[in-house]
Amino acid sequence: MPAKGAQVDVIVGGGVVGLSVAWRLARAGRPVTVVDPAPASGASHAAAGMLAPVSEVTYTEAPLLRLGVASLRRWPAFAAELAADAGLGDPRTGLDLRSEGTLDVAFGADDLVALDELAAYMDKLGLPVERLTGRECRRLEPMLAPSVRGGLLAPGDAWVDPRRVTAALLAALERLDVPLVREHATGLLREDAGRDGTGDGDDGDRAGRGSMGGDRPGLSGGTGGGSGGRVVGVRLRDAPDISADRVILAAGAWSAELADVPVRPVKGQIMRLRSPQPLLGRCVRGTVHGASVYLVPRGDGELVVGATQEEMGFDTRVTAGGLYELLRDARELVPGVTELEVADVVAGLRPGTPDNLPLIGPSGTPGLTLATGHHRGGVLLAPLTAAVLLGEESEAATLCSPARFRDIS
Ligand code: GLY
Repeated sequence: MPAKGAQVDVIVGGGVVGLSVAWRLARAGRPVTVVDPAPASGASHAAAGMLAPVSEVTYTEAPLLRLGVASLRRWPAFAAELAADAGLGDPRTGLDLRSEGTLDVAFGADDLVALDELAAYMDKLGLPVERLTGRECRRLEPMLAPSVRGGLLAPGDAWVDPRRVTAALLAALERLDVPLVREHATGLLREDAGRDGTGDGDDGDRAGRGSMGGDRPGLSGGTGGGSGGRVVGVRLRDAPDISADRVILAAGAWSAELADVPVRPVKGQIMRLRSPQPLLGRCVRGTVHGASVYLVPRGDGELVVGATQEEMGFDTRVTAGGLYELLRDARELVPGVTELEVADVVAGLRPGTPDNLPLIGPSGTPGLTLATGHHRGGVLLAPLTAAVLLGEESEAATLCSPARFRDIS
């Protein structure tokens, strides 16, 4: 039960990040409302769900690796509590959470050198990885191509089905009576700059917020970039404004439509193949023709093949060229993929930031907190993001602080 007079948070965005934050806050007794016209339909719907901090980053991205490792550590308890709250029982079946590790494979001499460097780096950090020969890789994964010359096994890496995770989060929120406003947010409501421009936006003395309120004097609610005044709610396209003590912007690639945040869409096309027998026992990835491709097996026999990385604005068309590249590269790793039935193809937009790190925490504008910019790691980093906003992760809070960018409003 939320404490009487407690701060009311309105979370804009019902993807894996927004829903996870909402669930953790609600579980901690905070009053929250989620706004999204179509929850769980954006990047989270397209995501493969790799919980793979070791194989997702390069050794040039040490802070991202630290965040990923910290969040991966949180995943087992997060999944167990989520499965319980959603009434699903075992997270392995309910969320398809698996932890058999990721195998990074190499074809050419250059790839092998890169794997050696990565292995040495992980060793230095004390992260468990195992360098394997081509033959050892095929012993683990017999469907791998004979041309695979070596690999790196990250045995601690895991994966999950993001569609099951978001469905579970929605079920858990419903059980906690968290309002879900299925409306399009078109802008942030602001008090005029100067009227109440102090504080960090996290103070909780504004009882009565979080309700659908209509226009109020002294407020402005334009779309896009803000004008510096305290954020006091959200403007909706087809419903009355909704007021808040704090707005948490978790709108992924669309975040820059509501505030001046350095987030851009990075398109990813992905396909799901249906396999009568599982082709793989663990996630497999590799670099083919200079592009990274990964194959993620699901418990129900599906094999997810992803993903392209395209800077195409808000274009979400699935293209013949994108699918061709995915299949061409996946076939180099696992030739048997071409025999499989195509179950689903989809394009999503990752929220990219200039330094590939997410933006989590107070924006600098009172009343506006960010939980966005997770780029390739929204599913992996969702538990950590919620923990940062609950004040449980100080190192991550520093790394992800929006204060590293100026002029967010
Ligand atoms: N995390 C994998 C991707 O964004 O493609």
